[in-house]
Amino acid sequence: MKFVCVTLLIISGITDSRADKFDVAGPAVPLMAVSGEDVILPCSVKPSISAVNMRVEWSRLDQRGSVVHLYEDHEDRNTDQLPSYRGRTRLFKDELEKGNTSLKLSRVQISDEGLYKCFVKSKSWYDDITVNLRVEAVGSAPVITVDGFDGSGGLHLQCESKGWNPKPELVWLNSEGVTLTSEYTDTHTDTDGFNVKHTITVYKSDTKYHCRVKLKHHMMEIEIITSSKMLHSLKASVVLISFGAVLSVIGIILIAMFVCKKRELQSKSQRLQRDDERLQRDDERIQREQLRIINERETFSENSLREKRILETVVQHLRKYAANVTLDVDSAHPHLIVSHDKKQVRIVNTQPIEEEEDEDEVQNNKFDEYLCVLGNEGFSSDSFYYEVQVKELPVWYVGVASESINRKGQISLNPENGYWSVGLSSDMYWACENPYVPLSLSVKPQRVGVFVNYEEGRVSFYDVETMCHIYTYTSQSLNEKLYPVFCLGHDVFLSENSAPLIICSDLS
Ligand SMILES: *[C@@H]1O[C@H](CO)[C@@H](O)[C@H](O)[C@H]1NC(C)=O
Repeated sequence: MKFVCVTLLIISGITDSRADKFDVAGPAVPLMAVSGEDVILPCSVKPSISAVNMRVEWSRLDQRGSVVHLYEDHEDRNTDQLPSYRGRTRLFKDELEKGNTSLKLSRVQISDEGLYKCFVKSKSWYDDITVNLRVEAVGSAPVITVDGFDGSGGLHLQCESKGWNPKPELVWLNSEGVTLTSEYTDTHTDTDGFNVKHTITVYKSDTKYHCRVKLKHHMMEIEIITSSKMLHSLKASVVLISFGAVLSVIGIILIAMFVCKKRELQSKSQRLQRDDERLQRDDERIQREQLRIINERETFSENSLREKRILETVVQHLRKYAANVTLDVDSAHPHLIVSHDKKQVRIVNTQPIEEEEDEDEVQNNKFDEYLCVLGNEGFSSDSFYYEVQVKELPVWYVGVASESINRKGQISLNPENGYWSVGLSSDMYWACENPYVPLSLSVKPQRVGVFVNYEEGRVSFYDVETMCHIYTYTSQSLNEKLYPVFCLGHDVFLSENSAPLIICSDLS
């Protein structure tokens, strides 16, 4: 009986220990996962006995055994779980009965890459395996930025791509597909994987340059065309070759826009600067011009002063030829009244006084339409000079006239008709050429000097108050006797109550 008991004990012990013993199995090769996707870390008990009553512990071997997931006493106990795994781990509860202790890891991150220990323990036995998880991350589409210019006109092009795992290969290629040497390369890793950045300097315009980022089955490429508008304006297009991944190009378009925007701003500010410089130049020119005008004005006023002094001398000289001019009453238009001393004439609006019965000869001498009067004395060889005051007269003409002039009807006072004169009418000063020539006088003449050089055929007019030359008829063929002539227009009413025209007798 005792023997039987012992035997039973032994048998039961053997059976027990045999039932408790197990192996834990897992993948022999590193497991590949794609960032962002879910992955199952395989682990199972062999032979397939239930692990429901066992402890299943997943931990990071390479992180001092930090807990990734813990199952014990029929439930998950994840209070000590690594924070980065929170909510992303799960055992297959239905599969535990079959000894399937695989762990499902959701939304894989690059930081999940590493060595995992799957530890399974029953009351009497335990075992574990290690799972090597590799995470592959396809980074962002490469981005080209124009990084600036160097002194020799080269354009710095920088290509950058972020978030790769493992480290991708980045190359710049020219339009023929030849790899270009990058002057500057930078690679760094963070929790989002590898960031790669290569810069080249290009000098050719109208050329395509490609930036290619490659990782195993994934390749992304972007091209930039340096246009002839100085390697400046950019046209970026994207070529995406991907065997496994669907990639977004939005980033590239944004960057291309950014680059264009930057270019636009740059050219705008350059333009503004140019405008500014031009304005500055204009400003300087205007200043110079102003200075010149001031100088000229000074010179001018100096000149006009000098001219005035010269004219003074000239007039002093001319006055030596002063003639004692008196008015010929017989020639005067009936509406003109000549003073007793025959030195003044003015218009009267009343009916002319019928003097002694008209002799035909007297009537013939009179101006009948134009309000004119001649001087008494004619000159046919010598030079002569006279001055006349025209102050306050709205219309006046003074000068000389040939003996044979027509005194009847509408007369045009011009040299062809035998008149050499200047005057004022319609608020304009005129030289009575054929046709009349308007004169621009800065000062209204109050007193006019008339000089005739008979031999030289010259008749000159001066404003003798401001000492300005008014006008000169030159090279006239003077072959008749010349008489001073004075006209006050032809409209009686216009000139009513006007001041008299006075022949000056104060010349000495
Ligand atoms: C464990 O269970 C998961 C989920 O059902 C399954 O995908 C996996 O193949 C199983 N592993 C084994 C070894 O049966």
